[in-house]
Amino acid sequence: MSDRIYIFDTTLRDGEQSPRATLDAEAKLEIAHQLARLGVDVIEAGFPAASPGDLEAVKSIAEHVGTANGPTITGLARTTRGDIDKCWQAVKPAVRPRIHTFIATSDVHLKYKLQMSRSQVLNRTGEMVTYARGYCADVEFSAEDASRTDPVFLHEVLAAAIEAGATTLNIPDTVGYAQPAELAEMVQRVIENVSGMDRCILSVHCHDDLGLAVANTMAGLQAGARQVECTINGIGERAGNAALEEIVMALHTRGEWYGLHSELDTTQLTRISHLVAARTGISVPPNKAIIGANAFSHEAGIHQDGVLKHSATYEIMRPETVGLTQSRLVLGKHSGRHALRKRLEEIGYVELTDDQTDRAFARFKQLADKKKTVTEADLEALIADEFQQPEALFVLHGVHVSCGSPSIPTASVSITLPNGECETRASTGSGPVDAIFSAVNQIVRVEAELLEYVVHAVSGGVDALGEVTVRIRGCGENARTLSGHGADTDILVASAKAYVAAINKLSRAPTPVCSVSGSDLNVETVAVSS
Ligand code: KIV
Ligand code: ZN
Repeated sequence: MSDRIYIFDTTLRDGEQSPRATLDAEAKLEIAHQLARLGVDVIEAGFPAASPGDLEAVKSIAEHVGTANGPTITGLARTTRGDIDKCWQAVKPAVRPRIHTFIATSDVHLKYKLQMSRSQVLNRTGEMVTYARGYCADVEFSAEDASRTDPVFLHEVLAAAIEAGATTLNIPDTVGYAQPAELAEMVQRVIENVSGMDRCILSVHCHDDLGLAVANTMAGLQAGARQVECTINGIGERAGNAALEEIVMALHTRGEWYGLHSELDTTQLTRISHLVAARTGISVPPNKAIIGANAFSHEAGIHQDGVLKHSATYEIMRPETVGLTQSRLVLGKHSGRHALRKRLEEIGYVELTDDQTDRAFARFKQLADKKKTVTEADLEALIADEFQQPEALFVLHGVHVSCGSPSIPTASVSITLPNGECETRASTGSGPVDAIFSAVNQIVRVEAELLEYVVHAVSGGVDALGEVTVRIRGCGENARTLSGHGADTDILVASAKAYVAAINKLSRAPTPVCSVSGSDLNVETVAVSS
């Protein structure tokens, strides 16, 4: 049996099922590019049958990220022809497409959810895996709620899937019920009893309801599974999925003990963690293993003394191994355009045009004037902020805020409109951010509901760059949820940028999504023609 572990990332599918974590297509693509840089073997990019938007997002990832050197791209499909058709439509542009189809196998799911008998589930599995194989040579089958399924029936279903041509078999602990030794036993029994298993990869997919997702995953690997399904920061349905960074670092740090390895570039872990936290708005607790803010901090005097004498006294991993380079000065205020371009290439922005490099350089200079040390994380936030809206309809021109105690928070905002005119409006609000958003609303005349507002510091110190994510919902028939991001050393300016970015996305929707009031701006026309 090989000692290589395949990493199947489902941040964009199961992770996106986290309460509040809706990602728009643009954010999904951005995360997918970064997952490819990390070197994951498979990206589960979404659930194409869930909505036309999800199908398009998966397709775009298949086209742009599923390249010759890129990962396998898959989408989830129930065992129905309709779902499998849509999944294939979405993943087929990838160089290595995979269809991932699933059906529940536990009695409780069969009786109450599916209202199907065991023999119906068995037949459906064979038929639909065969159907998927008609499209694609790489088919994964998952027996949902495997850990609560009668083992004899589970083995029958898995054997039927193999017989029909499945190449990867996944046994999820869907409700996070299993204990490590139990999960290992389930894996062993499948390997011993399911005929044809030697031709397939066995995969585990663990949820964290009892806080055991990573422990269960590692037990599954020890018992012979060779693919793990996991998410960045452990986000996912309910209590989440097994955290990718913890599994990968367990394999990296204790690889000899396990006799196993993955081929990921661990130095990308911090960056992808920040990106997922920023785009989903789900922040990482400071004590989170590997990527929490305190994961490499030593507080107790005895520990500090030990680490200063030799890092191995209290550190089992070096911070650099997970890409924690925030304290490192990336560029200074005297660095030139060439140095910036080189540094941007090093952190993955290889395709910037001259014009984009010029814009990035101008932003960098502004930042370097305000902030003594410009770190890699700052640079990331700045670039993501600069390029998220290449053709913005509304361009933020200026923000002025007056607030404090006692006073009524008041904001004045200037925005350049699609017709080139600059409009300024002032508004009060319950707080400075509310006042800014209300002034923006008066100018853009787009009705939108603010669903979420999240701010976090990109790096430490009083001059830290603040990164704001807002999530808004448009109104009317075509109501969609969209997010916007903004980064600035002033978090109120970052808030205005994030809100205007989200409004721009809403206004650029292919079909009219907003009711328009006011006389001089026809957003419906702009939206349809863009
Ligand atoms: O948790 C689960 O069972 C799943 C499957 C659909 C793979 O996410
Ligand atoms: Zn799941």
